[in-house]
Amino acid sequence: MIQLIKGFKDIVPGEIELWQHIEQMAVELFETFGYHEIRIPIMEKTQLFARSIGEDTDIVEKEMYTFPDSKGDLITLRPEATASIVRAYIQHKMYAGDPRRKFYMVGPMFRRERPQKGRYRQFYQIDLEAFGIASPYIDTQQIHILHLLFQRLGIKDCRTHINSLGCPECRPRYRELLLEMLNSVQGKLCSDCCRRKDRNPLRVLDCKVPSCREAVANAPELSDHLCRPCRDHFNSVLSGLDHLKAPYILDKRLVRGLDYYTRTAFEIQTSALGAQSAIAGGGRYDGLIETLGGPPTPAIGFAIGFDRLAEIMSQLSKSSQTGSVQPGQVDLFIAALGDLAQDDAFKWLSALCEKGIRAEMDYTGRSLKAQMKQADRLNAKKVLIVGETELESGKGILRDMSSKQQQEIGLDDIVLTIPQIFQT
Ligand code: HAM
Repeated sequence: MIQLIKGFKDIVPGEIELWQHIEQMAVELFETFGYHEIRIPIMEKTQLFARSIGEDTDIVEKEMYTFPDSKGDLITLRPEATASIVRAYIQHKMYAGDPRRKFYMVGPMFRRERPQKGRYRQFYQIDLEAFGIASPYIDTQQIHILHLLFQRLGIKDCRTHINSLGCPECRPRYRELLLEMLNSVQGKLCSDCCRRKDRNPLRVLDCKVPSCREAVANAPELSDHLCRPCRDHFNSVLSGLDHLKAPYILDKRLVRGLDYYTRTAFEIQTSALGAQSAIAGGGRYDGLIETLGGPPTPAIGFAIGFDRLAEIMSQLSKSSQTGSVQPGQVDLFIAALGDLAQDDAFKWLSALCEKGIRAEMDYTGRSLKAQMKQADRLNAKKVLIVGETELESGKGILRDMSSKQQQEIGLDDIVLTIPQIFQT
């Protein structure tokens, strides 16, 4: 048997309903806040991700699915959505007129990481981005949106970590300080960090290797070296959160794994998923649109790890038996016995589905017992039983599956009466 690729997974009926529920809640909320859906390709030119996420990041160095197409051009399965949305914004000149645009997208991403609970090679993100708004209000608002969504989904075990990563004004000065410090502990750094530190010393702060973590324990903090405008911006974001009573943890060590961030960076963390603690992450990236060839345009966004969110929700519904999402219920199951009844059942089913009734039948003509079992499994509300006798008399049996009561029902106008029954 051909198995699926390691780190990839199926989301099957029974699970998918929870995903649909989460997506629906997210989309509803995002639309309320003025965000609109955008769809972007699964693949892009490799350069797009290398230039935006950063050559020295784990994602670009080790995790991208990159391959040459038949002409030898390098293409990459998207590891995230931000770069593509920025590309689309520039390509379609969406900045013309009013540069303020708000987008969301939901879809699969690909990173060749070591698979484990909560970490997959194909995973899904719910992504939200706002372009053209420099105001700290929007930083506060995006964190608020995340809080609202988690609240509505009933997720309590989560904390918002927040930091400021400065800007091209203040970061270079900090960079020098950090590099000096890193050079003094060089012997303790892993080979990746030794290689990366001169070009991109901030990456060392994001390294998960224990010896590196120890080596940088006393490193200077970026947030202590912000320029005045960055400090004012950050303070406004925090007071906005205080105002909205949205709790957060100031986390001076939060640098995020992608290079494009400036100023506000945040992550929602949980203890529910073991090692994979981040269920969402994002921040400002005021320089990226310009770097990729657009006009200077501030931007901010976040992505939620959909798989991780669904896992937490499914744990919750198992432990509390509340909030579980049932598979879509079948309204009417038609249990037809014999070829003639099957023919009629198929006609009725087609007409009823056209009218919006969720009808289902057994297409193979098994025994009544087997068909009733199937109706049970599908969680059908009612079952219409039709055999030779019923066809002759023109009256079928309609069974209510919760009350177990049965009644006769005329078959001639069944396509009219069944929708009426479900309307009342
Ligand atoms: P990120 O932190 O790389 O940010 O990913 C966001 C979220 O995606 C993570 O917090 C995590 O929940 C989920 N995630 C990442 N990798 C995996 C994986 N291998 N398996 C399962 N879930 C995963 C970004 O991608 C940025 N583009 C976010 C952003 C949008 N920043 C600004 N706008």
